[in-house]
Amino acid sequence: MKIAIMGLGTIGGGVEILLRGRPDISVKRIFTRHIPAEYAALDSSLETILQDPEIDTVVETLGGVEPVHTWLCEAIRAGKNVVTANKAVVAAHYRELAELAAEHGAAFRFSAAVGGGIPWLTGLEQIKRADKIDALGGIMNATCNLILSRMIRNGRTLAEALAEAQAEGYAERDPSADIDGLDARRKLLISANTAFDCVLPEESVPAFGIRHLQPEDLEAAAVWHCTVRLSNRAFREEDGRIRILTAPVFVPLDDPEATVWDCGNRLWCQAARGGLYSFGGIGAGRFSTAQSVVQDLLDIKEKTPERPVFYQKGFAPAVPDNRGWMTRWYVRGAAGSCITEWRDTAEFVQEIQARPAAGEPVFTALIVCPSALPGGSRTSGTAAPAAPAAAPPRA
Ligand SMILES: NC(=O)c1ccc[n+]([C@@H]2O[C@H](COP(=O)([O-])OP(=O)(O)OC[C@H]3O[C@@H](n4cnc5c(N)ncnc54)[C@H](OP(=O)(O)O)[C@@H]3O)[C@@H](O)[C@H]2O)c1
Repeated sequence: MKIAIMGLGTIGGGVEILLRGRPDISVKRIFTRHIPAEYAALDSSLETILQDPEIDTVVETLGGVEPVHTWLCEAIRAGKNVVTANKAVVAAHYRELAELAAEHGAAFRFSAAVGGGIPWLTGLEQIKRADKIDALGGIMNATCNLILSRMIRNGRTLAEALAEAQAEGYAERDPSADIDGLDARRKLLISANTAFDCVLPEESVPAFGIRHLQPEDLEAAAVWHCTVRLSNRAFREEDGRIRILTAPVFVPLDDPEATVWDCGNRLWCQAARGGLYSFGGIGAGRFSTAQSVVQDLLDIKEKTPERPVFYQKGFAPAVPDNRGWMTRWYVRGAAGSCITEWRDTAEFVQEIQARPAAGEPVFTALIVCPSALPGGSRTSGTAAPAAPAAAPPRA
């Protein structure tokens, strides 16, 4: 198998190192902005790669949505399989890329896009072959988890913890995608698409981040024997409706999510018959992520053309519906903080999303164990939560 790597940075460079000396897969060409001298012989334009009939698979580790989306479409049309670690382009253009790949008999794989080296998407794909996945979620953004860890364990402010993460290479210069929950949302979306065989539009999934988190919010969580994590949740109802959101959560201290520190990820899914499955590990990093890319290459090498499109059989468009999902929240805005009564999640999200637009910074966190709070039991007349806000069932 001869491949080309597009983007020789942290992950692309890791893939090249892992493949060195392998008899079964070799890197024939590299397309990147600044090619190191040792790779000069492999330096290629995009056109050369697409026109080279020996190259059957392109590894994309450039990052971002455009021009990568355009380039991936060109590669698929040229008959190349695509393996990418890029969650931004997968979340934004999943349906188009997957359908194009199916049309051209090409593979389209992105195991590294969620959970780095953790076999999460492949795990979902395997579980749903034999069972039905009803729910999934967990901690999927390593950068925010590192920032929260530094705030909780080392008493840093968010600005201090973010600056440290940037200096250590864990956070981008523009940290918006991480601290506004957008990166976590992309990973949730890709996971839900995979598990529920659907295609959700990125903007339709509500996302709250940790941008406005203050030490007093951590103290408020501690009062209820909780800590704070940025976590994802998606549920599929019996009638097919999908409940989904990305948000900080007040996690009870004895919940497995509370034990995830630094760059750790913890991902879980709930299957109809098999119950809870959980996955954990380091959710980013050169060689763990590059290893996932190499696994995709090996799967393509061994299985094409029997499984030309990865993970999903169908690409039915879906729209999340959080109406009737009753949840409780911690909210701190200009007027102070409170814990809400049971709220319809769709209405609550709409209300909170309007407040920053009106100039009010708000931090809000989902409470995943509301029964522990005063007035926690649902009063009669309150609609039962169709998809409970509880933490995943313990194994
Ligand atoms: N890092 C991780 O732990 C991790 C984990 C999971 C997934 N990912 C994903 O993997 C992808 C790559 O991440 P990374 O950390 O390897 O990024 P990176 O270190 O910045 O590498 C990107 C490489 O692509 C090159 N590049 C970017 N845009 C280009 C363009 N328009 N033309 C030519 N070359 C271009 C860059 O060149 P310059 O350096 O010259 O700009 C760099 O060599 C991203 O989608 C990321 O989300 C990363």
